[in-house]
Amino acid sequence: MPVTDTITPNGSTYDARQSSRVATRRRLLMCRPRHYDVTYSINPWMNPSRGTDTALALRQWERLRELYLELGHTVEEIDPVEGLPDMVFAANGAAVVDGKVFGARFRHVERTAEGPAYLRWFEEHGYRDLLWPEHINEGEGDFLTVGRRILAGTGFRTDVRAHTEAQEFFGLPVTSLRLVNPEYYHLDTALAVLSNDEVMYYPEAFSPGSQAVLRALFPNAVIATAEDAAVFGLNAFSDGRHVLLPAAATGLHTQLRARGFEPVGVELTELLKAGGSVKCCTLELRER
Ligand code: ARG
Repeated sequence: MPVTDTITPNGSTYDARQSSRVATRRRLLMCRPRHYDVTYSINPWMNPSRGTDTALALRQWERLRELYLELGHTVEEIDPVEGLPDMVFAANGAAVVDGKVFGARFRHVERTAEGPAYLRWFEEHGYRDLLWPEHINEGEGDFLTVGRRILAGTGFRTDVRAHTEAQEFFGLPVTSLRLVNPEYYHLDTALAVLSNDEVMYYPEAFSPGSQAVLRALFPNAVIATAEDAAVFGLNAFSDGRHVLLPAAATGLHTQLRARGFEPVGVELTELLKAGGSVKCCTLELRER
């Protein structure tokens, strides 16, 4: 589906005929998948014997980047590092809120070098409030900001102790959520933030207690079906109006449209072979 609305200079796309949803301009960090490949397996989606088409991954990633630019967002790029095939998943590189950078410490040795590489990018780009954390955490993969609250995943990658560490660092309430299904190993594979107070998620990815927490916080959330979750439909990026998500998540497209959002389908099938899609490729640089 073509993107017909661009963000006007004042940041609003109000169009009463379609919806009153308002997009705000975002600053995003991405990493070109020049060295992308599936050479190891650290989640159930990754099968190194299946073969990866790096050129196709590059074209699909480039289309996502163009969509962000067409929508009026700013995209910064970090240089990919040879030997770090998962570095394309910029969401894992840090969590940035109010201009403060909480560095990532990866669970698996295959990705540990990405943490310092991302932190260096922030140092070189004028960020002064940086933390090299004590506990394992995989950046925005497990820390999602909803208004002035941070939702934090644990169970597979991020250590629950990193949640307290992030709360102290950002000075914002951090709500812990336990992931229980290995296919949804990062919070951003099972839940997406749509606006300052709305989310969509797949309940079965969470423990019973965390499902109850989500119901209490977001009684009107969009609930994803197993089919939409399985095509990574929740690995989505929203600017408040446009929601970029895998094209195959057709049920979510319908639900989002009914709520006044504009779903924008993206094909990132080659990156799904590593267990990632739209949101994984996108780190939001949130200023105060
Ligand atoms: N292959 C990567 C891993 O398993 C994929 C990371 C996806 N990123 C995300 N934000 N969910 O670590």
